[in-house]
Amino acid sequence: MTIKRIAVMTSGGDSPGMNAAIRAVVRTGLEHNIEVFGIRQGYAGLLSGDLNRLTSFEVSGILQRGGTILQTARNDEFKTPAGQKKGLRRLNEQGIQGLIVIGGDGSLRGAETLHKQGFPVIGVPASIDNDLDGTNMSIGVDTALNTILDSLDRIRDTASSHTRAFIIEVMGRNCGYLAIIASILGGAEVVSVPERELSMEDIAAALADAYVRGKSHAVAVIAEGVTYKSMDLVEYLKKKSEVGFDIRLSILGHVQRGGSPSAFDRLLATRMGVKALEVLLEGQSGVMVALDGRDMTTIPLEKALARVRPIGQSYYDLARILSR
Ligand code: ADP
Ligand code: F6P
Repeated sequence: MTIKRIAVMTSGGDSPGMNAAIRAVVRTGLEHNIEVFGIRQGYAGLLSGDLNRLTSFEVSGILQRGGTILQTARNDEFKTPAGQKKGLRRLNEQGIQGLIVIGGDGSLRGAETLHKQGFPVIGVPASIDNDLDGTNMSIGVDTALNTILDSLDRIRDTASSHTRAFIIEVMGRNCGYLAIIASILGGAEVVSVPERELSMEDIAAALADAYVRGKSHAVAVIAEGVTYKSMDLVEYLKKKSEVGFDIRLSILGHVQRGGSPSAFDRLLATRMGVKALEVLLEGQSGVMVALDGRDMTTIPLEKALARVRPIGQSYYDLARILSR
């Protein structure tokens, strides 16, 4: 079957660079004389049939914009077999012959269900969490890290002026990548992530140690996915006199998801968008495009989704050694 009409969607949590990926899909499609339709608001738009043809004009001026022009959504109906069948029906009704899903692990799980029903689907990893396995980086991670580091640097200025310790909560539902890398590059004293959670007692000991060593400030980076609430940690630390520092909390929140994509993310998203379209035309399905070293490749969705992308031991070592 020669593919002549495909669709692209963004789904789940947005991430900086999604627009660059959409643009790359549309413009590479034009190069191959393919009609590209944009589905609005992820699987919600798929189920309601909310899609439009995307021309070169519609994707001009979006490369540098954060968020997603197609918007995104979370949708429970698509998690059911009936919802997935309805989605397939909608695609067939519109004469769509292939789909590119740009999103995180949940979105790509959804993509896999369509592949299993025999529909050609390619996944593009886009999530600031960097939790998808099999790719060095997902779209948006680099920009989010830069945003976090900017905040962390600013917080350290005020922390050292007041001899304070800051608990900084960063995003990462089930993956501590952002927290670990931000702690290494932001010079944090201690870091706690879902994969290797430190007890509140351990965090208190690390801050107390920094105080005794005469530091003017201390920073603890906490991934949102740890089992205790940052507020509870702060209350606990305030009661520990040995911690020495005055304690403050800063939850960075959704500021981490916005903003103009970095050069790295623009390039990654562009290469991934081009690759996704090319492999779809070659007849691949049920795969995710992935950055492997310097190369753009594909891996089966099943493999990418089998586990949360592990954080290498060397990063834990760096975080520990450099916090001394
Ligand atoms: P992300 O893609 O950022 O991880 P979510 O986990 O919220 O975001 O998933 C986005 C959407 O993908 C969900 O709202 C749902 O519509 C769809 N989805 C998630 N998990 C599945 C699944 N197991 N089967 C089918 N669809 C899913
Ligand atoms: O998956 C990306 C992510 O930003 C997570 O780090 C975070 O837990 C979640 O999305 C927040 O989602 P929402 O947009 O629903 O607040």
